Amino acid sequence: MKRYRKYIRPYWKSFLLGPVLMVTEVIGEVLLPAFMANIINIGAVRHDISYIVKMGLVMLVTALVMMVGGIGGAYFSARAAISFAADLRSDVFRKVQDFSFRNVDAFSTGSLITRLTNDITQVQNMIMMGLRLLLRAPGMLIGAVIMAFVMNPQLAVILLVVIPLLSGAIGAVIFIAYPRFEIVQKKIDALNSRIQEALVGARIIKSFVRGSFEEEKFARSNEELKEAGLRAFRVVILNMPIMMLAMNVTTLAVVWFGGRQVLFGTMPVGDLTAFTTYIVQVLMSLMILAMVLLQSSRAVAGLKRITEVLDTKVDLSDEDASEKEAVVSRGEIVFEDVSFSYYKGDQGGGTQAVPVLSDLSFRIEAGETVGIIGSTGCGKTSLVQLIPRLYDVDQGRVCVDGIDVREYSLRNLRDGVGMVLQKNVLFSGTIAENLRWGDETADLDSIRMAASCACADGFVSGFPQGYETNLSQGGVNVSGGQKQRLCIARALLKKPRILILDDSTSAVDTATEAEIRRCFAEEFRDTTKIIIAQRITSVMDADKIIVMEEGRIAAIGTHEELLAGCDAYREIHESQMSREVSA
Ligand SMILES: Nc1ncnc2c1ncn2[C@@H]1O[C@H](COP(=O)(O)OP(=O)(O)O)[C@@H](O)[C@H]1O
Ligand SMILES: [Mg+2]
Repeated sequence: MKRYRKYIRPYWKSFLLGPVLMVTEVIGEVLLPAFMANIINIGAVRHDISYIVKMGLVMLVTALVMMVGGIGGAYFSARAAISFAADLRSDVFRKVQDFSFRNVDAFSTGSLITRLTNDITQVQNMIMMGLRLLLRAPGMLIGAVIMAFVMNPQLAVILLVVIPLLSGAIGAVIFIAYPRFEIVQKKIDALNSRIQEALVGARIIKSFVRGSFEEEKFARSNEELKEAGLRAFRVVILNMPIMMLAMNVTTLAVVWFGGRQVLFGTMPVGDLTAFTTYIVQVLMSLMILAMVLLQSSRAVAGLKRITEVLDTKVDLSDEDASEKEAVVSRGEIVFEDVSFSYYKGDQGGGTQAVPVLSDLSFRIEAGETVGIIGSTGCGKTSLVQLIPRLYDVDQGRVCVDGIDVREYSLRNLRDGVGMVLQKNVLFSGTIAENLRWGDETADLDSIRMAASCACADGFVSGFPQGYETNLSQGGVNVSGGQKQRLCIARALLKKPRILILDDSTSAVDTATEAEIRRCFAEEFRDTTKIIIAQRITSVMDADKIIVMEEGRIAAIGTHEELLAGCDAYREIHESQMSREVSA
């Protein structure tokens, strides 16, 4: 809880004023029945009109003060809660931005979104409600009990019987309902992730015509939520009848015993009405407290999950890097006995830590073009991700220009290594804005240069608004091949010493791809280029080709060497050549 103090401190005045102003409302609420009793006892019984008017005015002023207090209290409570949530949200967001890929994998993107939005809103609502009711409900309870005792101690004894009885009953309801509400919360989470998955994957779901399947999965989650909700509310609805019963029985008792006192003249008649009001107030505040407790279960669960995010250790940082000033200047890459797995022994959730890459050693000279080829899932992407340190090696080391990548500052390392991811994304904004991710200060000429090298200038200029064309979210309005070319241009604009293309031309036709390769060879002669490809034609001109098989290097060599000496390579070559002939 200590860690959340810093979100309260800047707004401590609101956090204080909220509850304090609500107290004025409480004071008014317990005073009003007493004023009313006086009007009846003194004014009505003795026909004292001027007293009635005077008391009426006092009541009016009290009501006005209450109103101001109530509005103020609600305002400051809302202000405190909303500010708290905004600061917390921005901290959680910043934390998530620092997350390594491995950290994100551990939470899943969907769950992170739920934590940043839904969970924080839950906490915000709890704070708002808490600040308003924190003093109000107990205040009203205590205030009403005191007033009742001051007014008529004998009659107030009834409360001493009712309060424990009702508390016990409500306590029992909460005791049964609380775990059921926790289940409801879990079901809501499950439903949220369902929705998230279905929306993110909407296109794929449609293209695989899995719509009805998804609907079924959704229906099941929804049904489970409904059942859990009904189970919880079956208990909660008991609250109201119990409460009504208590209220009616108590009122009956008050009227019975109080009525006798009135008859015997030991109790003024006005006190009787006031007394009934106090009874209602006491029972109401008990009820409200119970509801707050129940409601907070969601927020507590949310807070727990936000804390998890904030407490996560970012497993990849450059804090201890020893060569923070170093920049990638030549682009030579050396892998020394590198092993890597996505799951660390303890967090695999039962998954065996099978290494994705084992004992890789090879060397890429500065300025070389290197192709990587191998069946899907053999570890090509995993291998190149180690160079800009998207993940860290488990064993061995990766060196760029003779320095372990872990010793660079992340900024300098990633400035020197341009990578076009296999799962590439563009962001909403214009094309020019997207390309400027590579170089914020780039002018239109350099943007065009980079784009034409990636064979993107042609189609971009064809758009009516050219480079100012808006890409709607993630670039859904350009084709797959166009998107790939824009992503390449974005990486080129960075003028990196090392350029990695992870299957980045898979959706581009062979002629265009050859054109891009030609431009690379001419314009980016000194840049070290690593090209992962499915097609042998994409890599056959490379200085060397790495053939991968199940996380290991099967062979390294030029196209000719591999054709002569590597069976795996020859097989791929033959299957692709025969396909091309038959096509
Ligand atoms: N983020 C990840 N978390 C866990 N396992 C992964 C992740 N990414 C890839 N893998 C696994 O690692 C292996 C190698 O994947 P990858 O390097 O992407 O292969 P390639 O790029 O050659 O197709 C595969 O078995 C894949 O299932
Ligand atoms: Mg891959």
